[in-house]
Order: sequence, then C-alpha cells, then structure tokens
Amino acid sequence: MNNRDLQATWKYHDGTKHSYWSIRNNPHFLDWANRPQPFKIYPKIEPLPLPRDMPQTGVAALSAISEPVPSAGDDSVPDLQDLARILYFSAGITKQRAHPGGDIYFRAAACTGALYEIELYVVSGDLAGLDAGVYHFNPADVSLRLLRKGDFRRNLAQAAAMEPAVTHAPATIICTGTYWRNAWKYQARTYRHFGWDNGTLLANMLAVSAASGLPAEIVLGFVDGEVNRLLDLDTRREVSLCLVPIGRTSESSLPALRDAPALGLETIPLSEREVEYPGMLEMHDASSLHSEEEVAQWRGKQTVFPSSAPAVEAVHLHPLPEEEQPKDTIEQVILRRGSTRAFDKTASITLDQLSTILYSATRGLPADFLEPPGTQLNDLYLIVHSVQGLKLGAYFFQRERNTLELLKEGKFRAEAYHLGLEQELPADACVDIFFLADLKSILERYGNRGYRAVQLEAGAIGGRMYLAAYTQRLGATGLTFFDDDVINFFSPHARGKSAIFLLAIGKPLKRKPQQGL
Ligand SMILES: Cc1cc2nc3c(=O)[nH]c(=O)nc-3n(C[C@H](O)[C@H](O)[C@H](O)COP(=O)(O)O)c2cc1C
Repeated sequence: MNNRDLQATWKYHDGTKHSYWSIRNNPHFLDWANRPQPFKIYPKIEPLPLPRDMPQTGVAALSAISEPVPSAGDDSVPDLQDLARILYFSAGITKQRAHPGGDIYFRAAACTGALYEIELYVVSGDLAGLDAGVYHFNPADVSLRLLRKGDFRRNLAQAAAMEPAVTHAPATIICTGTYWRNAWKYQARTYRHFGWDNGTLLANMLAVSAASGLPAEIVLGFVDGEVNRLLDLDTRREVSLCLVPIGRTSESSLPALRDAPALGLETIPLSEREVEYPGMLEMHDASSLHSEEEVAQWRGKQTVFPSSAPAVEAVHLHPLPEEEQPKDTIEQVILRRGSTRAFDKTASITLDQLSTILYSATRGLPADFLEPPGTQLNDLYLIVHSVQGLKLGAYFFQRERNTLELLKEGKFRAEAYHLGLEQELPADACVDIFFLADLKSILERYGNRGYRAVQLEAGAIGGRMYLAAYTQRLGATGLTFFDDDVINFFSPHARGKSAIFLLAIGKPLKRKPQQGL
C-alpha cells in the first residue's frame, strides 16, 4: 500500500458514511457478553505507581488551551509528577458509574461510546523519579509498566526523521488506537473515531503540558513500523497514532540507537471473540509511512489553503477580555467536564461565550502537519439556534477574520435533529458546530495520511471547545452525523467538502429534583 494511492481513503471514507438508510439497514447489535475490557493489562509486569498528589498548576483553563506553547529557549524537563499530571488529566479515570452491562469508568477526555480505545505509552530518558525506559500507562491503577529498560529516545527520533521536538524531548508520549475496543460498537467507523478520540485526549494533554510549563506538540510524521515495533504492538489489533514530545533540552543528548527485539509481552485478551474489520487495516496500511526519507518528505508540505470570499453579512466575534474570563484552573475544568446528555432548548448563550469558545479553540494547534504554525485543515460551519445577538441560521466561521458569515437565515432545529443522526441533542443545543474539510486538497498534499491528520485535528479542536465550554459552565457533546446531508445543508458554500466532526454546545437541562416521600 502506498500513501499516494488516494483511492484507499475515498474507499474507506465513502464506505463508512452514515446515511438515513445505512443506519436503518445495519443489523449490528451490542453483544454485551462480549464487551471488550476497557484497559490493556500486562499480567506479568509489576506496576510502578504514579504519584497521585501532584501539585496543581494554578493555570486558568482558557489560557492553558489557547496560549502559545512556552518558549523553547530554556531547558524544561518534566519530572515524574509532571508526567503523572499530564497522563492523568489526559486519560485518567475521573468518574465511575454503574451500568447494567458493567461499571463504566469515565475518563478525562470525551470518547465515543465511552469505550476508550486510545492507549498511552512513554519513551523517556532518565527523569527525576523515573529511570529511562519504554512504559505503558494504565489508568485503572494509575501506574506505569516498564516494557523496555533503557533510553530508546534515539530509536524514536530516528523513526520521526529527527523531528526537532522529538529529538530534544526528555520524554515522548505515544498514543495508540485499539481497533476492537471501539469497533465492538462502531464497526469499521472506528478508524474515524481514532482521530476524534485521540484528538479530544490531545486537547487535554497539550493544555496540561502548557500549564505545567512544558512545550508539547503533535507529531504525525513517523515510520509506523518502527514505532509499533518499539511498543511491541500486535498491529492487527493496535497501532500507533501520534507522538507527543514533552519538554525540551537545548542540547540534543540522544544516546546511541538500541536494539529493540520483539518482546511478545502477554496481555489479557479484550474479549472472548474479536471481529476484525479489514477496511480499517487497509486504511491504516495505506496511510503508513515506511522510511525516514518518506517521513521527511511528508513533513515538508505547506498547509496553506485559499480562504473563501466573505459572504454578504458578517458578525465580528468578541471573545471575553482576559479580566472577565473565568479563572478556574485547567485541572478543575477537566474534572468537571462530561458530555451533556440533555440540553435545555429554552436556554440561550451569549455571543461573547460563543466567541470565546471559537477563538480559544482555533488559535492553532502545535502539530508537525500544520505549516506554517497557526494554519488549520478543518473549516467550521455553525447552526445557530439560540445565541443572544445572532440571527438564527447557518453560518461559516471565517477564522482569519474572526467573523461569522451568515449563509442562510432560519430556524433549523428540525434539520439539526436530522443531521445529528436524529438525536435530540443537536436540536436542543444553542449552537451546533460542524467541522468540514476540503478532503481532496488535503489528500493531494499529504497523501492518505492527511486523513489521519484531518480527523485528529478535528478531535483536538473539538476537545478544546469542550474545555472552553465547560470553563464557562456551559455544556457540550460530540455527535455523529449523516455525512452527505451535512454537506447538502451547508451548500453551495460547502460544495466539494467532506463532513468530519460535530460538536453541540448549550446549557445542560437541569433535572427536576425527585419528589421525596
Ligand atoms: C467525537 C464524539 C462523538 C460523540 N457522539 C455522540 C453521539 O452521537 N451521541 C451521544 O449521545 N453522545 C456522543 N458522544 C459523547 C460520548 O458518548 C461521551 O463522550 C462518552 O460517553 C464519555 O462520556 P463523557 O464525555 O461524559 O466523559 C460523542 C463523543 C465524542 C468525543
């Protein structure tokens, strides 16, 4: 398979679109008896418990989300407490709820179906409190498990074609996706979910790293086979999705390359039976990079896309000035975040609140595929149901100008209900934010790996929106959608684009207290 064989992405993307008919004709049901384990467990490796009493960063959530990564001038090296903070607030358990199918352990970042298919690993040099090694993070017992002893950072840097952030990082977190854990419910669409669910987690990870004074960025260019081998992954089941170098040392102090033989480490099977969806393995294969040269070439692409001409009517956005922004810390906001299960359709939000969400979530992700920094692959389209100061209707967010352009005026709650897979949530929210992308241009530029990039970017921006909404004590939820109907709704403006992601924002419905006896 070849990253330039773009048919592979179109086959996967078109083959996993939702439509009114595809939903009704799918005989799939949830086999609760075969529900996958939510954690990856290595039964024969001793846990190294992480500290649980990490000092709070004290950094306000909105600045953690949107302010530029700290200057890379000085050395900033994480210690074990920093790592524990970053891992916990990215993937740790924040709530537990009983469910007839078994307890559900909710995590720091939103995830489709609460299935948590993203695993985290750490490749580090010697840090205060942690010896150099390759580790797996288990949120169930908040522990690391040592998979390989020693400093393997050169292996990783080489796999990333000596990308500067990885080369200078004291530690790098690797995010992987486990197919079956999510495909149990979502079947072949899971490959899209890898990007979404990894993205929401990255929004937390980048914010908490920034709040800890540590630069971090998303690195999507790496030789897949090398990284998978380093983590000893069974790639029919689990694959590396991205690297996140954490911290920086000014001089590159990489050790020599080390041998990384297969380990064949035992892990507990997720379910009695697993179903493989070949379309996802093909999509992954077709978007894999095979050599350092290919990685270096891939990374050299520029992300500039022509902005479209402004529509007739545009509203300027005014994010809350800093002194009026809520001061809750990033940790407090992550702990109280949760997807809204019912919105109050009689409520409204203010234009300042919406502006603050749009502005702080779209200030540019630090990512190797966004060059120059600050560019963005996804375009944002909105259906406004109830935002004070805005006419009801459909809008395009003009990011560079920080304006909302009115595409069509009207009451579109019924349309939103339909577009969001006939769910009440998008109909009752105050605003629905649709992520659309010019997939054709993206694939031409990045090959099939552009598909990973655009999904991941959407998830990360969506994750930032979740945090910006909860900072302001609003509610939010990710949603899925009928692909082609979304494009038709926003056309002619959106003609030729593809639907990537959807997030609804509003005020949670306050449930009436139960009458006591
Ligand atoms: C990309 C994405 C899509 C989602 N789609 C839906 C959806 O279509 N319907 C729904 O009720 N919840 C949806 N959710 C919410 C998840 O079910 C929720 O994140 C998960 O149960 C974990 O709960 P929490 O977000 O409260 O921590 C989605 C979440 C994400 C991140």
